[in-house]
Amino acid sequence: MQLEVEIIDNDNLGNGIAKVNGKVLFVKYAIKGEKVLVKIVKENKKYSVGKIIKVLKPVENRIEVMCPYFYKCGGCSFFYLSSSLENDIKLDYVKKMFSNIKIDIITSDSLFYRNKAVFHVKNGKIGFYYNESNELLEIDKCLLLDEKINLVLDRLKKIKLKDGDILVRSTTLNEVMVRSLSYLDITLLKDVASSIYIGDKCVYGKEFVNERIGNVNYIVYPDTFFQVNKFMVLKLYDVILDYSRGYNSLLDLYCGVGSISLYLKDYFSNIVGVEVNSSSVSSANYNKKINNANDIKFVCSDAKDVDIDNFDLVIVDPPRSGLSKDLITKIVNSDVKRLIYVSCNPNTLKRDVLVLNKDFNLLKATVVNMFYRTSHLEVVSLFERI
Ligand SMILES: C[S@@+](CC[C@H](N)C(=O)[O-])C[C@H]1O[C@@H](n2cnc3c(N)ncnc32)[C@H](O)[C@@H]1O
Repeated sequence: MQLEVEIIDNDNLGNGIAKVNGKVLFVKYAIKGEKVLVKIVKENKKYSVGKIIKVLKPVENRIEVMCPYFYKCGGCSFFYLSSSLENDIKLDYVKKMFSNIKIDIITSDSLFYRNKAVFHVKNGKIGFYYNESNELLEIDKCLLLDEKINLVLDRLKKIKLKDGDILVRSTTLNEVMVRSLSYLDITLLKDVASSIYIGDKCVYGKEFVNERIGNVNYIVYPDTFFQVNKFMVLKLYDVILDYSRGYNSLLDLYCGVGSISLYLKDYFSNIVGVEVNSSSVSSANYNKKINNANDIKFVCSDAKDVDIDNFDLVIVDPPRSGLSKDLITKIVNSDVKRLIYVSCNPNTLKRDVLVLNKDFNLLKATVVNMFYRTSHLEVVSLFERI
């Protein structure tokens, strides 16, 4: 069935929203204010899904899609609209979730920001997967990736590759790490990588790459977490710094390689960081030495198992799954007075806020567009015990 509809809103996933006979219709890649001709491709009791046949009345915010893989690759959601509208959509999405507080946004409009990629190799071809599939989409270049990573991709395409994943990391200090899970002839990579791993073995160069954020130095190993947007990470950490001023002791839960602890080192007299990945804790301990921050203590533990009392401020920066039930109960029953929650998933943040709400006021939040052109975003929120 085909029909003409007016798009009345946008969701955070790259869909326009229309209403047909009172029922919600999601139209992929349609923009609020547009009139489009759509074909209904899915229908159930609560909503329908339509595919654009033709944009009958486009809006100014519609732009030409720069990426040749956009409609095939599942990585991005927003290449068809302006940067300003993407930032507005992300802000509105979080505003709708937390309607009673002030929410700011740190916007982004810079491509080539990602310092990490995982390429898949199948039948000698390298790329990403087609949207919602395990079928390989061969690519020449990704507009989100740091140019140094695209250069490595270019070299990898000249090498006979075996099936398996290949991780590539770059840093703003011009260092590049390549880690292939299968055997790889590394001859062509030596002038574009400072560290090459095959499986768990470093076969060329250094075992880690060096990175710098503001005036803090870090080392990063292949399997340790590091923020992926090289332009926005400093802005993210500055929001956290802004929210955390005026306290003496800090507990940094889910601390990774100690990035936030070290960034805040001059503002607290006592800092403890907690991280479950032992390789990240080793990096964090090395990082504190190279930054003369020997007073910081990094503990290898599940965040839920540490004593969280007696800190002025607790920062949590969990993975997309959010806080575990045990940890959130512990926070609620503790003497924690101020909490900064750094979230890369507003849905689990919202779930956790509903629990925290009984004991904490959510004072303010800032959306940081760490994942420009994709549907993902970061939110930093500040809570105070009631
Ligand atoms: C989103 S990253 C944040 C890292 C760090 N705050 C940063 O900005 O680089 C989440 C970190 O939590 C760690 N993690 C995951 N589950 C954990 C748990 N139950 N307890 C402690 N750390 C955990 C991961 O290994 C990862 O390093």
